[in-house]
Amino acid sequence: MTLRKTPVGDLTEKEAKAELKVLATEIALHDAAYHTDDAPTITDAAYDALRKRNDAIEARFPALIRADSPSKKIGAATARGFAKVKHSVPMLSLGNAFSAEDVTDFVDRIRRFLDLDESENVEMTAEPKIDGLSFSARYEKGRLAVAATRGDGAEGEDITANIRTIKALPDFIMGDVPKVIEIRGEVYMTKQDFAALNAAQEKKGAKVFANPRNAAAGSLRQLDPKITAERPIKAFTYGWGELKGMEWETQWEFIQALRAWGFPINPRTKVVMTVEAMLKEYEKLGADRASLAYDIDGMVYKVNSVALQKRLGFVSRAPRWAIAHKYSAERAETVVENIDIQVGRTGALTPVARLKPVNVGGVVVANATLHNEDEIARKDIRIGDSVIIQRAGDVIPQVLESIAAKRPKDSKPYKFPTKCPVCGSHAVREEGEVARRCTGGLYCQAQSVERLKHFVSRNAFDIEGFGEKNIEAFFEDKLIESPGDLFTLERRGGRKKLAEREGWAEKSIDNLFAAIERRRTISFERFIYALGIRQVGQATARLLAQAYGSCAAWRKAMLAAADRESDAWKELTSIEQIGESMAEDLVAFFAEKHNREIVDALSKELTIEDFVPPDTAGSPIAGKTVVFTGNLEAMSRGEAKAQAQSLGAKVAGSVSKKTDLVVAGPGAGSKLKEAEALGIKVLTEEEYLKLLKS
Ligand code: IVH
Repeated sequence: MTLRKTPVGDLTEKEAKAELKVLATEIALHDAAYHTDDAPTITDAAYDALRKRNDAIEARFPALIRADSPSKKIGAATARGFAKVKHSVPMLSLGNAFSAEDVTDFVDRIRRFLDLDESENVEMTAEPKIDGLSFSARYEKGRLAVAATRGDGAEGEDITANIRTIKALPDFIMGDVPKVIEIRGEVYMTKQDFAALNAAQEKKGAKVFANPRNAAAGSLRQLDPKITAERPIKAFTYGWGELKGMEWETQWEFIQALRAWGFPINPRTKVVMTVEAMLKEYEKLGADRASLAYDIDGMVYKVNSVALQKRLGFVSRAPRWAIAHKYSAERAETVVENIDIQVGRTGALTPVARLKPVNVGGVVVANATLHNEDEIARKDIRIGDSVIIQRAGDVIPQVLESIAAKRPKDSKPYKFPTKCPVCGSHAVREEGEVARRCTGGLYCQAQSVERLKHFVSRNAFDIEGFGEKNIEAFFEDKLIESPGDLFTLERRGGRKKLAEREGWAEKSIDNLFAAIERRRTISFERFIYALGIRQVGQATARLLAQAYGSCAAWRKAMLAAADRESDAWKELTSIEQIGESMAEDLVAFFAEKHNREIVDALSKELTIEDFVPPDTAGSPIAGKTVVFTGNLEAMSRGEAKAQAQSLGAKVAGSVSKKTDLVVAGPGAGSKLKEAEALGIKVLTEEEYLKLLKS
């Protein structure tokens, strides 16, 4: 391999062009060696490095992308399984509604956001929520170019060749077609096809699937598309991602366009005007649920008007303009054989019921969560009790209640332990907390192990092929005790140590180290999430990444924020959606020496990419910190906030030295005064809107 030392950022256009040419040839040769000759000529890590370099150069010089670019090669699985595909528009998930009240709240929220009167109806589509797995198929000038799984929402796997095997999905769309459209939908298997497939699999002695959804997923994610072609998978389409050169006024019109192009759409999709009508559709579909040919797990309501959808936008990872109204879960009766206590990465003790295995809606359930100490007491669940359990979709099954009439005579109430079952430290419950926590910190092996599991998990470092079992085994043998150890493992003689272990052939060792190498570069927000700080989920991690930009700046600010009088503390707590309790957890995390050591060790090993704000070129408020106060007239506060964020601004809840702009409506009080005292620019709503248009 040629040594490429020039950072991509420093390449001239001429150099970039020459290098892309070399890369195209080189990668094609390696592809042929691997796929056609089954004789790879370089390591997987080196191969991935080539592809990454190619992608990085193309991202910087999009005009230089070659017709034979490796990034355009579709369907060909890369050396390590599927190629990754970045979604140009993220594939989001949906919020859930479980009751009529939740649905009313959803519509009310929309009305408030849009400043609509209570009497005004919001037109919605009601669509069955297919229980399959989502995909995105990109058509360029009407031709299927690439298809991907959802993955983590930002990046999925290239399943183009597999999607092509689904007959109902066209390779070409004809007539009036947009320049680019990503069609989104759900791949599923009918209940009947699932039963037949399982019967055939069993006969062959092959793997049987737990439910139609798993069967559809297993069939779609086959490296060999010939196997996918033999499986009876189907699809429904219902949405779009990137779209260029065409528009629709409503979701309903879009669905009609899908139909005209020959895409499969769900025949039970309706347009409804009121909450009553939404609930009626939900009831009707629910009544037919068992007799439908395929599994559904709810009804999806979407605001029909695309213009309103755009105004409503997104909160974190779900649209404000749509919701999934779920059907209630399936239940079964079984016996609690034991109650175990699990210790999580933050030390929380979680009771788990070990059950006599029972089939609930097609899935065998042997464990269920009991949530916490109070829940066990409130429901009075005891070892030996007959209980009703419930499972819904991917949610962990739970114990609903125990059947008093069947309770054994000698049974005693369950006593929740006050010592950590793993390290023996005291387990205490702080005021106002539901969880009892082990006080052992990282001395408690359970916490270290759980933290490591979280670190490598899918939404964090996503180290492929490195699951919980490996973490446990590696931890036990002291190969990996802290997250940073993962990245020094190879240097510390990890190859040799792994080769001595059972089940680690050379190929799998290569794969593991290649997967680790691939993650040496990581986005700042993933990095934050991976640390597993209490209360810091993906959405908060993103907020923090956006607010601080780089890991070094964040670390410094979190240390400074330990002083509650400091600007750093004020800045942290003024980030919208970061309350005092979360801020305290962040400060507490950095106050611990062993945590700082983890962050520092990782920073040394990794390239943590600074946060890249969304493309807001030309936005007059990009990078600015804005505070809204007083009453707004043209839009609601929520809408103003969402709009500002989409234009690259940070929206803060209080005024500080870091504030760049205060938008004050009538009735503004203390915040306006503070802004004036600090000499911060203040605009009326009208002036602000003018600024945005400029
Ligand atoms: S719309 C931004 N419509 O449900 C809107 N999703 O829980 C995203 N799903 O990831 C989805 N049927 O896999 C939509 N008619 C439908 C759907 C549907 C099934 C799935 C989809 C999505 C998940 C969210």
